[in-house]
Amino acid sequence: MTDFSAIHTPVLLEECVRLVTPALSKPGSVVVDCTLGLAGHACAFLAAAPNARLIGIDRDAEALAMATRRIREAGFAGRFTPVHAAFDELSGVLAGQGVSAVNAVFMDLGLSSLQIDENDRGFSYSHNAPLDMRMDVSQKLTAERVLASYDEHALERIFRAYGEERFSRQIAREIVRRRESEPLTTSSQLNALVDAVVPQAHRPAGNPAKRVFQALRIEVNGELDKLASTLPQAALHLALGGRIVVESYHSLEDKEVKSFMSLGLHADVPAGLPVIPPDAQPFFREITRGALKADESQVESNPRSASVRLRGVELTRRLPERFASRFEHVAQGRSDTGGPAQSGNASRDKYRRGNARRNGPTLISNRKG
Ligand SMILES: C[S@@+](CC[C@H](N)C(=O)[O-])C[C@H]1O[C@@H](n2cnc3c(N)ncnc32)[C@H](O)[C@@H]1O
Repeated sequence: MTDFSAIHTPVLLEECVRLVTPALSKPGSVVVDCTLGLAGHACAFLAAAPNARLIGIDRDAEALAMATRRIREAGFAGRFTPVHAAFDELSGVLAGQGVSAVNAVFMDLGLSSLQIDENDRGFSYSHNAPLDMRMDVSQKLTAERVLASYDEHALERIFRAYGEERFSRQIAREIVRRRESEPLTTSSQLNALVDAVVPQAHRPAGNPAKRVFQALRIEVNGELDKLASTLPQAALHLALGGRIVVESYHSLEDKEVKSFMSLGLHADVPAGLPVIPPDAQPFFREITRGALKADESQVESNPRSASVRLRGVELTRRLPERFASRFEHVAQGRSDTGGPAQSGNASRDKYRRGNARRNGPTLISNRKG
């Protein structure tokens, strides 16, 4: 038997179980794990909620196969449905399963340790590998393609927005200059390029290319856009009393989650209105009191938890009609991976005005596993 917990240690496992499973007490309850990974969280949910079944989504076919094996070995196969899809296909996934309402939606964003440690996938700056970085290897856009085809401004924007890289402009300029004579195809080449551009005196701790790699990964996988279009879909499918629980590891992810959740945590009226009409009352209840973080001992035993922000809400009444239609509008503008980064964090306006971007169909279809 494989020791899956040695490959990936789930972050804040007990806290996630405590937040998710109260919504799963009734027979026939459904929980969607949008980021199944190696099923560490999923197995714990299934163990703690014997009445629930779990739909597990992952866009990484290898992770999905390992998770399926782990769940079978744990004896939960009868309550588990694996789905190979990107999580922003949530509505289609549920329709495909004949499910209209769910009791909990869980997300543990980012990469699993399996993906980081697989040297040939190019996620890690510490191993020389082709610049791939796709979570779903059937997708066309790779990091190499981004570096070869985006113009200087688009590259700069990605490094700045997703990597908070101080030398974004200089790095982007150097990429465009170098690629004219030699294509950038490996992580070693990118490491060397960043190393040559970032002055010694201004280097952050660790590898100077760390932020550039992170930014490329977010872009290649459309991570922020996918998150922004999944949260409204989760709310649209939530049964009364249902819960959305999200673990983020990047400030922009957490910002997106926070701004989405806050839409339902406050009365939808102009400040100072003396009486709040029933339809403008909040529709979410916060179940985490802001963001939960890992404590020192958790970080020590699982360094991946150092940057985690865990947030959760419960649906306390039916979604007001105007939010339901805004969320539908945003969800329909589901993101594609395949174009230069836009601002990436315009979520509040998006939900308020319903001006979702339409980027065309996704490259990934919903393949049932
Ligand atoms: C941090 S891991 C999840 C680990 C899992 N909670 C566990 O305990 O084993 C994140 C997983 O989500 C998947 N993932 C990331 N973005 C996704 C997306 N947009 N759609 C579907 N899966 C995604 C990754 O492939 C990865 O396997």
